[in-house]
Amino acid sequence: MRIVVLVSGSGTNLQAVIDAVKAGELDAEILAVGSDVPGCLGLERAEKAGIETFTCAPADFTSRPEWNRALQARVAEYASDLVLLAGFMRILDAEFVEAFEGRLVNTHPALLPSFPGAHGVRDALAHGVKITGVTVHLVDSGVDTGPILAQAAVPVLEDDTQESLHERIKVEERKLLVQTLNALSASIG
Ligand code: GRF
Repeated sequence: MRIVVLVSGSGTNLQAVIDAVKAGELDAEILAVGSDVPGCLGLERAEKAGIETFTCAPADFTSRPEWNRALQARVAEYASDLVLLAGFMRILDAEFVEAFEGRLVNTHPALLPSFPGAHGVRDALAHGVKITGVTVHLVDSGVDTGPILAQAAVPVLEDDTQESLHERIKVEERKLLVQTLNALSASIG
């Protein structure tokens, strides 16, 4: 299975995938890592692993649709089996989603359909849930609404802050992501 990964931040999920591929625990090839955030840590991790990188920053385009189209064209160049959003923090428009329908995967730090959007951890904590978690899902044209591929639960502790809770979620997220990619790789080849 050949993957293009999109990141916006620290890239620890990306790192888990890189490590799993390297360790022979995931039968996949990362063709490239792209980002909307120039110089983000996720891009550095990719470079360090010798993976091709590219940046497509909204600031370099005159409109959002133009940026979306450029990113779509860049990702399409790789003709990958899968496009993985691993902490990619911008919403992709319907055209992008349709172009990669069925092979666009996102990871979200909450148990969807609860707490979609950019603040899944904060919102779950504010709501007072006792169990939250992580969801790996296919992307459709809604925000975090696509078909769920896998979930893992994470208990919320009495004294959790957004940071402490997110860190524990991310431990499970990295495992679940690699497991789910493995399952996809078995079905895609
Ligand atoms: C992950 O928890 C992801 O689900 C969320 O942001 C975090 C990104 O972490 N959207 P990283 O960049 O993979 O370290």
